[in-house]
Amino acid sequence: MEIIISSDLERIAMLGADAVAEHVLADPTAVLGLATGSSPLRVYRELGRRVAAGELSLRRCRAFLLDEYLGLPADHPESYRAVIERDFVRLVDIDSAHVGGLDCSAADARSSCAAYEERIAAAGGIDVQILGVGGNGHIAFNEPGSPAASRTREAALTEQTRRDNARFFGGDVDAVPQHCLTQGIGTILEAKHLVLIATGEHKAQAVRELVEGRVNAECPVTALQQHPHVTVLLDGAAASLL
Ligand code: GLP
Repeated sequence: MEIIISSDLERIAMLGADAVAEHVLADPTAVLGLATGSSPLRVYRELGRRVAAGELSLRRCRAFLLDEYLGLPADHPESYRAVIERDFVRLVDIDSAHVGGLDCSAADARSSCAAYEERIAAAGGIDVQILGVGGNGHIAFNEPGSPAASRTREAALTEQTRRDNARFFGGDVDAVPQHCLTQGIGTILEAKHLVLIATGEHKAQAVRELVEGRVNAECPVTALQQHPHVTVLLDGAAASLL
């Protein structure tokens, strides 16, 4: 695991964008794994800058989202599909039709999750997966207790995650869905390169478990220790307990 600590958030964004660019320059049809949440936003903006400057093109790339809320209307501005359109697709030159997301309107969640895994596999798997981490150590929406071998499935959100994410819903925790569809930890670990970004003191405990703890289901991010190619990008606050 490569760990880079910098107090300069723009440098963290540059390094995250470098990791994505390395894969895309080696293979213009690279498959990207996209995370939502605030952590990757600067990386997406930096990728947008590089595309606008003609340094990089994602035109032939495909991408897949990590997770999606259940129970939001399809046009809700905080559905992860809407968020990724706004915060990523609009900034770069990827074809929106090449960005796969979990279908929160599917009547049969189990078969739609299985179909999603098949789509990822048919694309050749994820080359580079951007990840954030929840304050409680969740990755995607794999909450504490999620098995390391878990696959894409329906899951429940913890109260802490709903409170953490209430900021995206006007501060109203009751507006945050209680359930979601999420790639499993086992699914995420199949990506060839994982790039995790964590900033802020509220991530420090999860980061400590990731770097110094033992692999345990109560802190799902620790599963990354089992992956051969992980890059962790931290600011000083997120690294403060190391
Ligand atoms: C959300 C998402 C995760 C994200 C995490 C951290 O609930 N499902 O994919 O990594 O929480 O979010 P943030 O980057 O806003 O702190």
